[in-house]
Parts: sequence; C-alpha cells; structure tokens
Amino acid sequence: MKPIQVGLLGIGTVGSGTFNVLKRNQQDIQGRAGRGIEITMVADLDVARAQSIVGPDVKVVNDARAVIANPDIDIVIELIGGYGIAKALVLEAIAAGKHVVTANKALLAVHGTEIFAAASAKGVMVAFEAAVAGGIPIIKALREGLTANRIQWIAGIINGTTNFILSEMRDKGLDFDVVLKEAQRLGYAEADPTFDIEGVDAAHKVTLMSAIAFGIPVQFDKAYVEGITKLGAADIKYAEQLGYRIKLLGITKRTAAGIELRVHPTLVPAKRLIANVEGAMNAVMAHGDAVGTTLYYGKGAGSEPTASAVIADLVDITRLHTADAAQRVPHLAFQPDAISNTPVLPMSEVVTSYYLRLRVADEAGVLAKVTGLLAEAGISIDAVLQREADEISGEAATQTDVIILTHDCAEAKMNAALAQMQALPTVLQPITRIRKEELA
Ligand code: NDP
Ligand code: HSE
Repeated sequence: MKPIQVGLLGIGTVGSGTFNVLKRNQQDIQGRAGRGIEITMVADLDVARAQSIVGPDVKVVNDARAVIANPDIDIVIELIGGYGIAKALVLEAIAAGKHVVTANKALLAVHGTEIFAAASAKGVMVAFEAAVAGGIPIIKALREGLTANRIQWIAGIINGTTNFILSEMRDKGLDFDVVLKEAQRLGYAEADPTFDIEGVDAAHKVTLMSAIAFGIPVQFDKAYVEGITKLGAADIKYAEQLGYRIKLLGITKRTAAGIELRVHPTLVPAKRLIANVEGAMNAVMAHGDAVGTTLYYGKGAGSEPTASAVIADLVDITRLHTADAAQRVPHLAFQPDAISNTPVLPMSEVVTSYYLRLRVADEAGVLAKVTGLLAEAGISIDAVLQREADEISGEAATQTDVIILTHDCAEAKMNAALAQMQALPTVLQPITRIRKEELA
C-alpha cells in the first residue's frame, strides 16, 4: 500500500525531532501502523535550514498553505506554535479534509472547542498527544487506559522548564535567570518563556487534561494561574525542613460543588514519588475510583521525546483514518453530546491546606496574635516553625520568620485571615502563602 503522506508545518525543535525519529525508526513504525508514514512536504520560514534537515528528496516551501492545498497530503502536522497563524492553518487543514496532529497546547486550551467541533463536522481527527507532558502518553492513558474510571483528581508536574529551574535552584543554588537561559538553550522553554515561568503553559496542559478527565469543555479562561517568579530561596529551604518539596503543579479535581482547575507552586510531601521528579522531567498523577492512584513519568519536553508523541498520533491516525468517524475515540474522551456543564470553581471556593511564612518582629506575643487570628477565622493549624532570630542576619536580626502549616480551609477564608494578619504592625513584610497538597 502507498505510504500515508504527511505535510509538516514548522520544522524547529519538535519538527526536526519528528522528521528524524520517523526516518530512523521507519521500519518499526510501518510494522505497527500497517502502512508506511512519510513526511513528503515541509513548510518553514527558513527554507534553506529546513531543506538541510530533510535532505533533497522532501519538498520544502515557505508557504504553509501550499502544504494544505496539496491533494496528496493526508495528515498535516502543525508544529509552529501560538494562537495566530497556527489557528488559521489548523482550521484550514480541517476544512480541506486533512487529519491534524499538533503539539500546540496553547491553541487547543484556548480554541479547542472551535477546533474539535470543526474536525467533528468534517469527520477528521485532531490528535494532540504531544500537547501535554511531551513524551509521556498521558492523553492516551486518560482518554483510553482509564476509561472505566470516574476520575477524581489529576496533579502533575507538566512544565519541564519550571521544574528544571526549581531543581537547579534547590540543588546547585543557581540564580533563576541563569537556569532559565539554560532551559531555553536546551529547547525546553516556550518561544515566550513567560508562558513557562508564570504557569500559563502548565495551565494550558491541565485545562486539556481536565476536559478529558471530567467531560467538560476546554476552559482555559477559568483556570487559576500562578507561576514561580515570586518563590524565594527561603521558602524552598523551609519547605525542606518541614519534609516538603515545592513543585509547580497543575491540579484538577472533581468536588461536589464543581471542578477545581489551578496551577500554582505547591508543597508536596518529600516522600511522594512526584516530589522527587527533577530537572525537565514531567510526572502526572491521576486518581480514578477503580484503579486508585496512578503515576506517569518521563521527559516532558525536548526534540525527540516530543516527537515520540507526535509520531504516536501519526500511527493512530494511520490505523484509524479509514474507520467510521463515529467509531473513533472522541477528541475529549466523552462523546460530544455527553459533555457536561459542571462548573469550574473560582479559586475562592477551592479548599486546600497552606504554608504561610511571616516575617515578624521578634518580640513577645507576636505568634499568639497571628495564631489567634487564624483560630478566630476557624482555620486549624497543623504545625508551626519559628526560626531562631540569629538565623536571620544583619539589620534584620530583630526579626524572625514564622512558618505555619494549616489544615484544609476554603481559599476565601484564608484570604480574609491573611488580610487581617498582614495588617498587624508586627508583620513586617508581605506574607508568603503557598498551597499544600498531600496527594495521598
Ligand atoms: P520552534 O520555535 O523550535 O519551531 C517552530 C518552527 O515553525 C520554526 O522553525 C519556525 O521558523 C517555524 N514557523 C514559524 N512560523 C511559520 C509559518 N508561518 N510557516 C511555517 N513555519 C513557521 O518551536 P518548537 O518546535 O519548540 O514547538 C512547536 C510546538 O510544539 C509549539 O506549539 C510548542 O508549544 C509545542 N511543544 C514544544 C515542546 C518542546 O519541547 N519544544 C514540547 C511540547 C510541545 P523560524 O524559526 O524560521 O521562525
Ligand atoms: N515549554 C514546555 C515545558 C515545553 O517546559 O514543559 C513542553 O510542553
């Protein structure tokens, strides 16, 4: 049978990995797909560089629309990124009846509803394994492997850049900016690295997982997003002393009131496997009522790890494209008419526990006032740690850090208590609040 023909839009980090892995492992891939898969046309702005990657036998153009217009192309891979031209090209490819593979989580988290509807109407597939956790087949696991379960929660380290930064800062004491540059050099970071460090990229990914797990539309605009830029070395150190590690987690949970959808730095018990995921590695925990807690670990970014997921999608499409569209796995796991309108909860209604660090005047009665305000608010304290004043050097030696771990309470209640504590004259700096998850 003639190989299935693929057009590649954008041959940068992931595109070049996809081309190289597909070529290197073509025999095994053909054996699994039941048919050869060939990238026969590539579009990139830098035609000379693209041609040097793919060699003389592959047609390279600088106009992505020429690839979509080519009637021989069965599948279009979009690896340009962003919401701009990538959105137009994906919709045009669908309209032209092409199946689409993309690693573009930003595009799907924001415009997924429109794109999946267009694909369903046209009877084509939009596959996006590479969009979440790079090389980890987490979309397949959630959409197919866990299909028997009522999924209760997912929590994941789903941004390699920030995990790399946190690991390097903790292990080597390196500065934030130095480690970010290294992550960019290694090809982990997004074109705009603020997406990584401000938690936006992780929020795109957890939005997609939430939709698949709970059968809700993709709703990136409802996600709570907080990155790692305000994290201080002191908090990383105090967390360690209390038996925790700080990780940027994407969390989505089913509760009686609705769905939690949030990204923020999180204290995780150091004894959990996920707390020991270092560098650019990703890990996702998913808890289902039948299976219990499962954990998926692997490279979440980089050229060939991400290519591994892109090619898995190519194989899936090659196996399934002749099947009746109604028999294929739905884009978001649930059939379109079974998508629910369960609300995504505002952050004020999320219930979790907290790490608080207060820089206070080192004088009698300060701790009692702070804990008194928490007690009045009905917030139960789990542990308190007060640093010796002499651990805080220089002119701040008359000050001390008080660290409080709380039990669960609603975010709105905590916000009100924090405002009261912050107003105390003996609280000398903005209070640090980091959420804590036991992930038991
Ligand atoms: P790169 O920036 O390395 O590659 C994008 C490529 O697209 C570049 O070669 C760029 O050319 C080209 N390009 C830009 N505009 C056009 C256009 N209009 N027509 C044709 N080509 C164009 O990005 P990545 O490979 O890192 O990322 C691709 C996608 O994969 C993104 O959505 C990203 O979020 C996602 N992703 C990336 C991962 C990673 O580890 N890097 C992991 C998982 C997902 P030029 O350079 O000349 O501008
Ligand atoms: N910038 C992303 C990360 C790439 O660091 O995880 C993988 O999606």
